[in-house]
Amino acid sequence: MYGIVRKEKLAPNVKLFDVSAPAVAAKSRPGQFVILRVHERGERFPITIADADPEKGTVAIIFAEVGKSSKQLGRLDEGDAILNFSGPLGNATKIERYGDVLCVGGGVMAGALLYQVKALRKAGNKITTIIGARSKEHLILLDELRENSDELHVATDDGSEGFEGLEFLSDILESKRFAHVITIGPTSMQMAVSEMTRPYGTPTTVNLFPIMVDGTGMCGACRVSVGEETKFACVHGPDFDGHRVNFEELISRMRFYNPNEKIAMVLFDGR
Ligand SMILES: Cc1cc2nc3c(=O)[nH]c(=O)nc-3n(C[C@H](O)[C@H](O)[C@H](O)COP(=O)(O)OP(=O)(O)OC[C@H]3O[C@@H](n4cnc5c(N)ncnc54)[C@H](O)[C@@H]3O)c2cc1C
Ligand code: FES
Repeated sequence: MYGIVRKEKLAPNVKLFDVSAPAVAAKSRPGQFVILRVHERGERFPITIADADPEKGTVAIIFAEVGKSSKQLGRLDEGDAILNFSGPLGNATKIERYGDVLCVGGGVMAGALLYQVKALRKAGNKITTIIGARSKEHLILLDELRENSDELHVATDDGSEGFEGLEFLSDILESKRFAHVITIGPTSMQMAVSEMTRPYGTPTTVNLFPIMVDGTGMCGACRVSVGEETKFACVHGPDFDGHRVNFEELISRMRFYNPNEKIAMVLFDGR
């Protein structure tokens, strides 16, 4: 069992947990994820690692309560425990000294972005960060991102804080030549960022969230088309070249179980 040593509410439906998992914490790197199961009847689902403290033996996860499993997780409290917490899974984000790096994150993935930003800055890069969310109340970790970036821009879908929408990214890309772009957040946002950097030929790393089941390359659930190849995001990714990902196919596959997810939520009795 993996004890929850800290629980914090970061936004209306977003929670942060520090989970005691020394073996996972010892090996975690930005871009990797865990697959967890709340209890013996729960489903396995992936969450990206938002930070790790090898000395304390804790791993931070930040998640949105969107359906049955994430709501079950969100109902746990400090002192409770998670049944399974497997990881770190997937490949870590490639951290190199690129030069000027643009980091674009959205919503609940701000924590995972911060983990990447800290590592990129430590490697000697100059970081411009863009963080976005649906609205002001859904923006999280702004102070921490500002502290760890050379420049920070904020955007919301409804314009309640910072820029409205992502169009302003064109001006940023026009004004500065970046050596590398990384993006993590809603798939539609990662697709938009990749399309906007394509004309500039700026290498763009995306971190994908297809449906995952085993997380070890066995089930095929997480397959994505990258260029002419079929890749399994859990073992070949989750980071890929955003200019080569077939996003339309990915988004359609991510929606495949929506009817079943709605039924599961209707039948959810709170346990
Ligand atoms: C590598 C990876 C990292 C992720 N990291 C985070 C994170 O840091 N924070 C966070 O809030 N969410 C993250 N997710 C998404 C998270 O796994 C889903 O929100 C969760 O599984 C939803 O389950 P549910 O039963 O609560 O909702 P459901 O109603 O079952 O599903 C809601 C939506 O979540 C997605 N989803 C459902 N089941 C899975 C699954 N087994 N694998 C992947 N996606 C699924 C689908 O897009 C679905 O439409 C990540 C997904 C992947 C693949
Ligand atoms: S989750 Fe099964 S192959 Fe990737």
